[in-house]
Amino acid sequence: MPIPALEIEARRGAAPRDGMKNGAGVRTLWNERFAQRTRRMTSSVIRELLKLTEKPDVISFAGGLPAPEVFPYEQVRAAADTVLATQGQIALQYAPTEGYLPLRELLVRHMARYGIDVSPSNVMITSGSQQGLDLIGKLFVNPGDRILTESPTYLGALQAWSAYQAEYLTVPIDDDGLDVERLEEELRAGPKFLYILPNFQNPAGVTLSLERRRRLVELANHYGAPIVEDDPYGQLRYEGEHVPPLVRIDADYHDSSSEDGFTGDVIYLSTLSKTLAPGLRIAWIVAPESVITRLVQMKQGADLHTSTFCQMVAYEVAKDGFLDRHVKHIREVYGERRNAMLGALERHFPQETSWTKPQGGLFLWITLPESFDSTALLKEALDQEHVAFVPGASFFPRGGGERTCRLNFSYARPEVIDEGIRRLGSVIKRKLA
Ligand SMILES: Cc1ncc(COP(=O)(O)O)c(C=O)c1O
Repeated sequence: MPIPALEIEARRGAAPRDGMKNGAGVRTLWNERFAQRTRRMTSSVIRELLKLTEKPDVISFAGGLPAPEVFPYEQVRAAADTVLATQGQIALQYAPTEGYLPLRELLVRHMARYGIDVSPSNVMITSGSQQGLDLIGKLFVNPGDRILTESPTYLGALQAWSAYQAEYLTVPIDDDGLDVERLEEELRAGPKFLYILPNFQNPAGVTLSLERRRRLVELANHYGAPIVEDDPYGQLRYEGEHVPPLVRIDADYHDSSSEDGFTGDVIYLSTLSKTLAPGLRIAWIVAPESVITRLVQMKQGADLHTSTFCQMVAYEVAKDGFLDRHVKHIREVYGERRNAMLGALERHFPQETSWTKPQGGLFLWITLPESFDSTALLKEALDQEHVAFVPGASFFPRGGGERTCRLNFSYARPEVIDEGIRRLGSVIKRKLA
């Protein structure tokens, strides 16, 4: 039986792979003991890239970072003071795994405005949506189970589920999101569940049209396939009308008068990472109560509960409507940056390239000229012009996408965006010439 490359490296005591480095050439018995399921796992391309781009002269469109200028420092500081002064003993104590009840109630009211009709018993607070994705993997994925994703899709979900030895079925996307015409064929292969990012998708920035949402939910119901809907960006819309979430559309297929409360087949995830601050690590997962009970068990094994203090601070910041005002401000700032990037692309990129025009979110998606390879381009862009992005291939669970790139527009200021796109455009033009 051939020995996997990772094992050979470990036996030799060779320099460990990405993300395992604790000093070059360090020999440790642990290297021989990694679980078999970790063999396919490598560290995130994005995180490795972020390390390269920390140098001050690099303009990076690589990360998915919110702009630090929009963090509400004063409000968070005042909230932390209030929480410690009035409820310090609770805030610094262990707490229920489900999460801080007033925060869950607030989130239920928030979701009701978007037609998501659930009760606090359907909501569990997680340490970021990333943990929600991991707990879903822990609860549902057996080795070899097939998860149906968009192609490209969110890399963090692939990282979470590959650890549970998931396989992937994929459906391509276009400017209106997932191509529902191609969905049925994959549904016949019997996926365990579908993973869908309907709003301003990470990485491509596209939004699933209402018509396609309806068709998707209809087909998923027909084939008996549940859906995980990941919606970190839904509130960050810079143009166009809000489109109902899948969890809302799916509710129409279920008996809303059921005494069991919310019984839909969509698990919905959202987060305060993009609307408040990612450092707080506060997100939530919505599911039928029977599923929440099992997710709670999974979470107990992971971290007992999300930071009580951070949950209470988030609640204190959000409770009197501050978040709504704040989200308006974020929309203005990011909307301007999106426009800056779209304008710069028009000015500086050759006509052989194309890009998506996101109505919201943090990212847009470039398709390079024929025969280009975006990983090679990244190296050149870093070497020659000190500018970075994420090569698209890593977002494709089953390969492809070598000509694509993800660009973030939320982090850099408009004038920096213009300069970065000018530099990237000049590398592409030189290659073309
Ligand atoms: C689609 C998607 N899901 C989940 C996450 C994780 O977010 P959180 O900060 O809540 O863990 C991100 C973060 O960028 C994301 O883009």
